[in-house]
Amino acid sequence: MTTTLIDGIGSLYTGDPEREEIADAALVVEDGLVAWTGHATDAPDADERVDVQGRAVIPGFVDSHAHLVFAGDRTAEFQARMSGQPYTGGGIRTTVAATRQASDAELATRALGLVNEMLAQGTTTVEIKSGYGLSVADERRSLEIATGLTDETTFLGAHVVPADLDADSYVRLVAGEMLEACAPYAKWVDAFCERGAFDGDQTREILAAGLKAGLGARVHANQLGEGPGVRIACELGAASADHCTHLTPGDVEALASSDTVATLLPGAEFSTRSPYPDARRLIDAGVTVALATDCNPGSSFTSSMAFCVALAVREMGMTPVEAVRAATYGGARALRRTDVGWLRRGARADLVVLDAPSYVHLAYRPGVPLVHQVFHGGLLL
Ligand code: NIG
Ligand code: FE
Repeated sequence: MTTTLIDGIGSLYTGDPEREEIADAALVVEDGLVAWTGHATDAPDADERVDVQGRAVIPGFVDSHAHLVFAGDRTAEFQARMSGQPYTGGGIRTTVAATRQASDAELATRALGLVNEMLAQGTTTVEIKSGYGLSVADERRSLEIATGLTDETTFLGAHVVPADLDADSYVRLVAGEMLEACAPYAKWVDAFCERGAFDGDQTREILAAGLKAGLGARVHANQLGEGPGVRIACELGAASADHCTHLTPGDVEALASSDTVATLLPGAEFSTRSPYPDARRLIDAGVTVALATDCNPGSSFTSSMAFCVALAVREMGMTPVEAVRAATYGGARALRRTDVGWLRRGARADLVVLDAPSYVHLAYRPGVPLVHQVFHGGLLL
């Protein structure tokens, strides 16, 4: 098999806590995996050599929270918000109506377009949720489309209660027939635990049913206000509590003493003109933090992890290294993956070559397209 030496790396951010940064580095790819990392002077021989001429290399971003299967557009809602309207989540139903009307091909083409947009910006692993179907058939087809694009698929039938059903009947449907139809296409189950969406009891019921069906849990929690979402996530051993914008001291303690990752989604606060989550408070308490885009047509229509890194540094009290760690290693933890999110021997060779001398430029040069090359499973895109 062919081995490739990636050489001339000015600064390698490995994401591996044991040896997180290496200056004047090289990396060997074999069979799609990382075979070696270290100082360029110690590099072993390889069949092929790629010289990145002093650029920085980081692991491919792991975007652990995205809603990519949808149709329609919510520009008008965004414009209204930028004129002072608050975000309530009510616009989800607008996207549901458009999604139900779209053909399978339209939905698949749009989702693939977003995955490719992400890949070009350095995201080599993405989680994709359903949640804009809200009927058995529409949730199942959303997940079937998602499984064609990623292994990280999430059943989010519990996004909001659709207009044509009362809450109790809908919770029964989600935890029963809909889950049964969707579970074969899903790795995770999620619920939007928030005033106006699902309360604590409903969230528990749906997540418990999903866990019983063999799925892992993740929760949209504490986005718009304080509530039970984070505590439920920790109690049920969810992989991740996502948003975490409004936290009590008890929520922070619960996260710190659990394996549940706090996934922060600053694109949502940007796009809804809301206060950002306090990443500093979480990190100082010992919580593992991930950053993700929340890419969706309502609250956060960005596919850029670099943008989220820049926001996290500028607005959320994170240092550049903490933000890049959260966007790579943290995202992998939030998906309970050890094969991505870092560049250590045996990991998938997903790496991003930046047109910059260091990863710090992701925050220092916000909005600038710094991705020079992306290797996915060792293959140069
Ligand atoms: O994560 N909060 C719930 N779901 C999405 C928003 C969905 C929408 O507004 O369409 C989120 O922000
Ligand atoms: Fe979301």
